Amino acid sequence: MIAKTEEDYNGLKEIGKIVASIRDALVQKVKPGITTLELDELAGELFEKAGAVSAPKGEYDFPGYTCISVNEEVAHGIPGKRVIQEGDLVNIDVSGSKNGYFADTGISVVVGQGEAILTKICNVAKEAFEAGLKKAKPGSKKSGIGKAVIQTARQNGLTVIKNLTGHGVGRSIHEAPDHVYNYFEPWDDELLKEGMVIAFEPFISTEEEEVFQMDDGWTYVTKKSFVAQIEHTLILTKNGPIITTI
Ligand code: CO
Ligand code: CO
Repeated sequence: MIAKTEEDYNGLKEIGKIVASIRDALVQKVKPGITTLELDELAGELFEKAGAVSAPKGEYDFPGYTCISVNEEVAHGIPGKRVIQEGDLVNIDVSGSKNGYFADTGISVVVGQGEAILTKICNVAKEAFEAGLKKAKPGSKKSGIGKAVIQTARQNGLTVIKNLTGHGVGRSIHEAPDHVYNYFEPWDDELLKEGMVIAFEPFISTEEEEVFQMDDGWTYVTKKSFVAQIEHTLILTKNGPIITTI
């Protein structure tokens, strides 16, 4: 959407704050021994308390309030009986709506002591996010964001997942612009606009550049790579992007 009114800005900020606080609460609880279902149940309670609705559940009938993806899982992991272990790479993605406004956020974390490469991809995802953020200006090409992401990945000897992208958000969970690529897409000549609301989500990968979907119809996995994501919802303004999900 294009945020125009004060009501738009306030509504977007309100749901942004809610999904951010649920994300942070789940990150606090990711410890060895907890199941992904237990984490998701906490999210369900927090959504209800905030008077907000989970987007995957409300919009897509996803079997969970949040997407929780562990190790070989990259995105859209279904919360369930899987028990979190020391050293796991866990991605928690929380999106939801309130009063007709949507926000989307996610983060990958390493549980306790993990392999150094896992911490590295999480840090490079943050670095790529910061680099992309600097290009998120009204009037600039949208493709500049992806260029910054892949440059950051390559500088660190890593790459990106190309078939998972950021997207427009605001009045629904996925809307125009359909794709905010994490690589340089020369055909993408779309210009960013004042008030444009996007979910920007770099996926940094150790090797593979594509994910594939499992038979459950949801979970995206790689064959042998590890992938870290960070995602925030942004309102683009001439004075710099407003991150609603901080
Ligand atoms: Co998300
Ligand atoms: Co998203």
